[in-house]
Amino acid sequence: MKEILKKTLPVNMVNHISVVKTYFRLRKETILQMKRFARSYAKRTSCKKEHIETHIIFLTHQIEKGLSHRNFRYGFGMKVIKQLAVLLPKLRQIDEEYSDNEVYRMAIAALHHYKTKHEDEHFDLSNVQSCFDEQTWHDISKEDSNYGGVLTIEAKDKTKNASLTFPKLMENRHSIREFADEQVTAEEIIPAIEMAMRTPSVCNRQPTRVRIITDQAILPKVMKLQGGMNGYPIPPAMILVTADNQAFMDSIERNEGFVDGGLFSMSLLLALESIGLAACPLNTMMTIDRENETRHLLGVPDNEFLVMYIAVGHFSEKILAPISYRFKAKDIISII
Ligand SMILES: Cc1cc2nc3c(=O)[nH]c(=O)nc-3n(C[C@H](O)[C@H](O)[C@H](O)COP(=O)(O)O)c2cc1C
Repeated sequence: MKEILKKTLPVNMVNHISVVKTYFRLRKETILQMKRFARSYAKRTSCKKEHIETHIIFLTHQIEKGLSHRNFRYGFGMKVIKQLAVLLPKLRQIDEEYSDNEVYRMAIAALHHYKTKHEDEHFDLSNVQSCFDEQTWHDISKEDSNYGGVLTIEAKDKTKNASLTFPKLMENRHSIREFADEQVTAEEIIPAIEMAMRTPSVCNRQPTRVRIITDQAILPKVMKLQGGMNGYPIPPAMILVTADNQAFMDSIERNEGFVDGGLFSMSLLLALESIGLAACPLNTMMTIDRENETRHLLGVPDNEFLVMYIAVGHFSEKILAPISYRFKAKDIISII
């Protein structure tokens, strides 16, 4: 019947029916996707190991970011510390082998750096210590490892980036959130974008669009709306990566712009590193109001999805960056 209708009805009408069917499929698939996400994400109330670990990693990252600030603020992060003080014993309860749990050790190591950094300056940590139970404070005191904390990045080590092997380039790239005072121009950034154009995309449809923002009046507004680099100086430039949904044809392609734009962004991060520019990927996970303000500010039309920002600048002589410890590859691989 379907085939007979397809053959007998005028092409125009068949196309219209297909558009209506796609709309209803888009609705159904989006709702199913929403439900799957709602079932899985790390709710604050959850006692599941994976969920607790997610919150611990998030909070550990806040500690590492605080440790990396050039204008270090002694006693920072009490809110974060109080949350970790609850979650770390919770994780110990769930995971008997917690001493080998990398997430536990990442948090404990970052807190160890926090402790020694303050102790070196004879800063009174009694209110921090009082947040933790005896076991956690004992673990923090003895975890002197590179599972967490900060590392030093120096501009002099970046001068030969163009000739580094791929593994070395990959290993040495770190997110940099504070840059040299020197401005960076669009002309300096464009060669990296040209390199990233070799990024593959679905059917070569190339949905990625890139805006380079160097306008000193717009940058503070962008950073305020983005919100993920609060407390750091305004970067010399921001790149906004978006995906043009006009490159897609069906409901099942609805997330592809994020995939293609994400791949492009990673190429761009490595390309920037290769030409000796410092960068930090930044999320575009905003409330609808903030997203609308961003769209208005930067002239992003309705047909584009926001994928991510990248802050860009020159490397300053010496700067600290979060360690952001990585799981071992063997722990994320399943061979089928
Ligand atoms: C999509 C995306 C969004 C990010 N958003 C932020 C952000 O809003 N603020 C921030 O300080 N870092 C942000 N980051 C940087 C991550 O914290 C960083 O990549 C991670 O800790 C790994 O560290 P590395 O990039 O130094 O290897 C983001 C990274 C990605 C990939």
